[in-house]
Amino acid sequence: MKRIIIEGNHTLSGKIKIGGAKNSVVALIPAAIMASGKVKISNVPNISDKDALLEILKLLNVTVKRSTGIIEIDACNLENKIIPESLSNKLRASYYFMGALLARFKRVEMYFPGGCNIGSRPIDLHLKGFESLGAKITKENSKYLIVADELHGADIFLDFASVGATINIMIAATMAKGTTHIMNAAREAEISNIADLLNNMGAKISGAGTEQITIEGVEELHGAEIKVIPDRIEAGTYIIMGALLGDNLVIEGMIPEHNIVLLNKLQEMGVNFKLQNHKIILNKTNNLKPTNVRTVVYPGFPTDLGQPIAVLLTQANGISLFDETIWENRMGHVKYLNKMGANIVAERQHAQITGPTKLHGEEITATDLRAGAALVTAGLIADGITIINDAEHILRGYERIIAKLSSVGANIKIVEV
Ligand code: UD1
Repeated sequence: MKRIIIEGNHTLSGKIKIGGAKNSVVALIPAAIMASGKVKISNVPNISDKDALLEILKLLNVTVKRSTGIIEIDACNLENKIIPESLSNKLRASYYFMGALLARFKRVEMYFPGGCNIGSRPIDLHLKGFESLGAKITKENSKYLIVADELHGADIFLDFASVGATINIMIAATMAKGTTHIMNAAREAEISNIADLLNNMGAKISGAGTEQITIEGVEELHGAEIKVIPDRIEAGTYIIMGALLGDNLVIEGMIPEHNIVLLNKLQEMGVNFKLQNHKIILNKTNNLKPTNVRTVVYPGFPTDLGQPIAVLLTQANGISLFDETIWENRMGHVKYLNKMGANIVAERQHAQITGPTKLHGEEITATDLRAGAALVTAGLIADGITIINDAEHILRGYERIIAKLSSVGANIKIVEV
């Protein structure tokens, strides 16, 4: 087990550079195997979710060349092997191989994906989409067999604007015969990044980033290049840390428009920040105002920042209300924040946070990736030493978090126990 140890109450000052987006790169890698030439992905974050996908590429006989921040994928000798549960359950995004292998071979055999335990996380919308494109699906225990004589374009309405289903269906439809419309599509910035790669590979996709995506199927895809967009959730997490501890803390290499809702909330709370092109400068504020946060699909307040912002709300003067509308099990951090001295009353997907409360160091556990980020944030402002167990969750999505925080003055380390 990995354990993060933090001595709290150190001011953060200097620069943190934001890496490539986790939720983009985890879809770009599977999408790349559809090309008959080499695909070069740059600004690749050094996170363990990416490593898990590269293991799957190895199984599928895909050649990968790596240098710092760059991976080059050559799927010329791609083999359609069953992706075993031990690999598929390492992360959620393994399900993008369903769409990619279905597009290339019209047949996929793989197990249910893994990922954070933040809800029941069904994949019915992905599967319904594949069925609309002409696939037949059989499920035995947790293994899926998805086959199609041919994939054809279809009009697909998503009951919920699911990120994963939008991307997976877009990937599969890229090589279907005819035109596909995905309606009520998710609009996350990452979706446009994936569509850009597919278009660079020769796909004909329009409307990515809007509610309706149109895909005209093509027969073949060729090699291409893409740069991963900056991670808006990593940026948001460090912005929240800067609001609590910043002394001219600069978060750079981000796209402020992708964090506009968070920045609006921070403004409402009275956080001291200045925006300058692709960076934001933060200074600690003492008189934070409480606010209400409701997570909703993009471009609303991101569910992935719901846990980190809870820590900021513990420091506001008064009562804040928090509503999580996407995931049914995203309150894993509450018990531990309360152990550290917070005053949070949570029931199901709602929480009432009363502040300000001084936090103190405790031994606590990261239950999932973003809960882990919230606990790191709490540890940074707590009196004394905070020990976070199961820190592997955090490394799945925050590249070099220890190095980045240490470089701006945090007293933080990671140990193997
Ligand atoms: C992605 C992100 C995750 C983020 C989430 C919502 C990745 C790798 N992960 O997850 O960080 O928290 O978007 O912004 O990009 N749903 C169904 N059926 C389906 C698919 C989803 O009912 O087939 C439901 C889910 O249970 C959930 C909601 O739709 O309640 C949103 O899920 P979705 O947008 O698909 O999230 P992910 O793509 O898994």
